[in-house]
Amino acid sequence: MKMQDRKGPIGIFDSGFGGLTVYREIRRRLPGYDYCYLGDNARSPYGTRSFDIIYRYTLQGVKALLDAGCPLVILACNTASAKALRNIQQRDLRGKYADRRVLGVIRPSVEKLGTLSSSGKAGLFGTPGTVRSDSYRIELKKLYPELELFQEACPMWVPLVENNEIHTPAASYFVRRHVDALFAQEPGIDTVILACTHYPLLMPVLRECVAERVKIIDQGPLVAESLADYLRRHPETEARCSKNGNERFLTTAFPPDFGSLTEMLFEKTIHAEHIDLN
Ligand code: DGL
Repeated sequence: MKMQDRKGPIGIFDSGFGGLTVYREIRRRLPGYDYCYLGDNARSPYGTRSFDIIYRYTLQGVKALLDAGCPLVILACNTASAKALRNIQQRDLRGKYADRRVLGVIRPSVEKLGTLSSSGKAGLFGTPGTVRSDSYRIELKKLYPELELFQEACPMWVPLVENNEIHTPAASYFVRRHVDALFAQEPGIDTVILACTHYPLLMPVLRECVAERVKIIDQGPLVAESLADYLRRHPETEARCSKNGNERFLTTAFPPDFGSLTEMLFEKTIHAEHIDLN
């Protein structure tokens, strides 16, 4: 069988649990496909690390998914999309991976963000890496140059999620602190994007801290819709995605911990297999 005739699951990569918020929307939107999720929980968070390290870790994860037979990998991680996607697409998908595709989450999020604000002032919560990269502002400038973007880096939010501290006073404290800081930059913000896949898990506390008039955008549904559209527009890639409704989960951490945390975060125990990326 020729390489391009082989079918495989759609790969989803994240630094940890956050990508599961994107994955659950993708699965809901496109239930017939097979999926392979890889969470680099052992090395999360990525958001406070240097460009080189994020690129190296992301490439290791993407290669593991490509080697597992994925024709298409979604970087369901803003930090990885901001810091590694372009290099991977331009440099690393050559030779034996030339017929594979890797997509990120920033472009589909920006496309939608630009259509939602009526005040012309949008806010963004993200990891320090995503905010420092300025990727959202750069993409927004191309599509919606009139929209002003105010950004707030929230280094504590991912550890709160990865350690299941989302219903604690610590979560309320750190969420309020960054919400206040963002709106102190510009009180007229009417739309806020959660530019980190972990953040939708903080939605109940975010909703308490952010004024009701402000829309809070969770990327999961946007990315799922954009993937459905991509598959429609790229039948050659779509044909290579296997469709048995199967799912497989890989984690670089201890699988029983992955299971018990998914039980607490998603009310569903997800059994993962261990994978070593080093
Ligand atoms: N969930 C990832 C994102 O969307 C990053 C979390 C991390 O810092 O590891 O940015």
